[in-house]
Amino acid sequence: MSQDLPPTVIAERDGAVAVLRLARADKKNALTSDMYAAITSAWSAAEADDAVAVHLWLGLPGAFCAGNDIEDFLECARTGRLGSEILDFLHRLATLEKPLVIGVDGLAIGVGTTALLHADLVVASDASLFRTPFTDLGLVPEAASSLLGPRRLGHAVAFELLALGAPFDAERARAVGLINRVVPAADLERTARDTARALAAKPRAALAAARRLLRDVPGAGRAEILARIEEEAAEFARRLASPEAAAAFTAFVSRKK
Ligand code: COA
Repeated sequence: MSQDLPPTVIAERDGAVAVLRLARADKKNALTSDMYAAITSAWSAAEADDAVAVHLWLGLPGAFCAGNDIEDFLECARTGRLGSEILDFLHRLATLEKPLVIGVDGLAIGVGTTALLHADLVVASDASLFRTPFTDLGLVPEAASSLLGPRRLGHAVAFELLALGAPFDAERARAVGLINRVVPAADLERTARDTARALAAKPRAALAAARRLLRDVPGAGRAEILARIEEEAAEFARRLASPEAAAAFTAFVSRKK
């Protein structure tokens, strides 16, 4: 893959697996506009590459993704709208045609958790922590999690995760069906790669057809997911401009260590 990506987003090939790794270690893999654009571009290239059968998304040891960069949110609050890079990323995530495997070690915050609802298989280390502090930040759930969350987890658990912002450890996340499998941190990357390779070795057309059938479920098919992303984004933009969000972002960026 000869794309011009920032150093915080690394795209590589592992046989028929397109591996995408977030690598912004100093900010726990918080996502900036540039990173969203790079991920979208890497996934689009992998979708168009016939040699690629499966996407694998990894973070760093201890930090899968700390969610959207909060300083970027401050900029969105100033402009009163979500950046197009975020919306393009969400759209790309929701419309991938090839299976998506995610390997999580450590922090999976905000979109680091809601993105999992779009994956086909998620492997996480026993040191992982899933949390979506949207309401604490004066925000609302995104990435169609307000649709996919209740559907996958049931209302009570989805509300606890997405509205209360309760942290879920890996075992709880597995028990409620957010992720597939928990492994020791030392085994995370190998297991995630093995999982992606196993999928990539399947007959391609049969796998694609099975995936399409499994995803085309009443009320939460592609069209509904995309519509929900738009609906959430409109509310998210209103919340971003609110005094509640301004206070939460300012508290985060000005906190003392
Ligand atoms: N946006 C911007 N910077 C972030 C960030 C984010 N979402 N998450 C972490 N960082 C930065 C921290 O500001 C810190 O930067 P600094 O060293 O320049 O001060 C660095 O990453 C390390 O984070 P730190 O808070 O020191 O690590 P920690 O292990 O104590 O805590 C988190 C990690 C992720 C729990 C904590 O940083 C956090 O709560 N981040 C915000 C997560 C969030 O709300 N995301 C948005 C969800 S919608």
